[in-house]
Amino acid sequence: MYSDPLMAQAEAADSDAALPSNPCGRLYAISDLHLSYKSNREALEELAPHPNDCLIICGDIGETSEHLRLAFSTATACFEKVFWAPGNHELYTMPSQQGGARGEGKYKECVEVAREYGVLTPEDPYARWHGEGGPCLIAPIFTLYDYSFRPDDVTLEDAVKWAKEEGVEATDEVLLHPDPYTSRIEWCEALVAQTETKLADAVARNPDAKLIIAGHWPLRQDVVKLMLVPRFSIWCGTKQTDDWHTRFNAKVVVSGHLHVRRTDWRDETRFEECSLGYPKQWKECKDSGMDINDFLREILPGPAVPTDDKPATIWRRYG
Ligand SMILES: [Fe+2]
Ligand SMILES: [Fe+2]
Repeated sequence: MYSDPLMAQAEAADSDAALPSNPCGRLYAISDLHLSYKSNREALEELAPHPNDCLIICGDIGETSEHLRLAFSTATACFEKVFWAPGNHELYTMPSQQGGARGEGKYKECVEVAREYGVLTPEDPYARWHGEGGPCLIAPIFTLYDYSFRPDDVTLEDAVKWAKEEGVEATDEVLLHPDPYTSRIEWCEALVAQTETKLADAVARNPDAKLIIAGHWPLRQDVVKLMLVPRFSIWCGTKQTDDWHTRFNAKVVVSGHLHVRRTDWRDETRFEECSLGYPKQWKECKDSGMDINDFLREILPGPAVPTDDKPATIWRRYG
């Protein structure tokens, strides 16, 4: 979110724009397209037309404006409306871009590219969805992380060192600059505060609507399980958003970043991780004849709330 508080306030004051939506339409999500990989770019070419449906792209499209343009031009040609939330990869300043925009400046560049295609971003009013199951507001968000997804006995100061002890260090430490903030933690603080204000205003102004909260980083630590690199968790979110699904009346929380597709339920809110991921992470499905269309996750109307007290995690191979 831009650091200009007046702009944030102005956005919040106008947060009930109506979608030009077909009430029979569906809302899908996908994330982590990672278009720097040729086979992922080839996969995107297979995206099928969905003229009555909408699509959320939940970050990590790629590192350059060319990647964004490819994704946005393809998605807007196939879907009635497209939403985007930034991932860490969009925010990278690559070595080949030395002297280019950094941090918030890079984010602003991405937002401007999205606007060229009419793609809605965290900087736009939340769109209102009229479909079966009641009205919803679609809220793309940008919150980043603050290293708080760590064990209680690891201090903030030691968090990165703790991850490095197992050979884990996010590329963000080198390529994701926090400018104009002094750190990514400080940037995250500001983003969380601005997003809380906008979400609270949206809920107050739309008491009949449920929210679809869509951001790159998971909102809760308990939906982060990284078997191969568990200590990567410190780059996966912030505990400050732990209760946002109940505070802000969320029907569904959509995220990516983990490259681990899963569905969880917390307090009757559905949590969907909807990554495509790096080529090797969906190769098995590709080899069995699937394509990118099989990885679109249906957000609305979506499945019914399970009747069990504590529904188990669904680990999804695709979709
Ligand atoms: Fe990713
Ligand atoms: Fe990511």
